[in-house]
Amino acid sequence: MNIVEAIRNRKSIRKFKPEPVNKEIIKEILEIAGQAPSALNTQPWEFTVLAGDVLENVKKGNLEMLNSGATPNPEFSCVEWPLESIYKERQVELAMQLFKLMGIDRKDKEKRTKWTQRGFRFFDAPVAIILSSDRDIPEAPPALDIGAVMQNICLAAMHYNLGTCIENQGIMYPDILRKYADISEKRLVITSIAIGYPDPDFPANKIVTKRAPVDSITKWCGI
Ligand SMILES: Cc1cc2nc3c(=O)[nH]c(=O)nc-3n(C[C@H](O)[C@H](O)[C@H](O)COP(=O)(O)O)c2cc1C
Repeated sequence: MNIVEAIRNRKSIRKFKPEPVNKEIIKEILEIAGQAPSALNTQPWEFTVLAGDVLENVKKGNLEMLNSGATPNPEFSCVEWPLESIYKERQVELAMQLFKLMGIDRKDKEKRTKWTQRGFRFFDAPVAIILSSDRDIPEAPPALDIGAVMQNICLAAMHYNLGTCIENQGIMYPDILRKYADISEKRLVITSIAIGYPDPDFPANKIVTKRAPVDSITKWCGI
């Protein structure tokens, strides 16, 4: 698969086969992803890889928090936008696409809750990667650099026939992550990636999301 094909074909996977992923493969993916550029080559990221009992405990802990109505307290938020904006419209469009594929009626609260719960249990992935930065870095967290390594993980995973879903739902309760994965308070939890072998029969895995046409988001100057 060439690079353009990989970028074009990457998509979020929201159900995985139970098959485990070999640790060496994850290690190779992280090593490849670490080739990402970063400001002054600072490489301000660290990975915490969760699998087996640790991941099961985190999934269980997340669900307990969610079901108890606990207020999510992510340490880094990337989902704040005005209610009446193109961003909100795109969010609604995504939800509608997913619900249609999954046969979920917007008014069916039970099915919607079940869908939300799936995200908090990493879509049943056998592995989850938590991306964190150094809390001591002053100013804003190095989100640009971490975004680059995050995308690289998703693309490199495809080389091994693995699917991914970048997941804010996975880091909504950082205390659960700290409890079971022993993530130090010195680390700032930025995001998570569910990773595993995609289940090709799962309806939501067939999603194809749209993008704004280039000319609608590009200003051409002198070209
Ligand atoms: C920072 C970030 C956080 C995300 N968090 C979630 C999440 O919590 N749950 C989810 O189902 N998808 C999540 N996604 C996946 C997006 O919904 C997805 O990338 C977007 O709809 C475009 O679809 P595609 O990845 O299939 O191209 C997240 C993506 C990013 C970049």
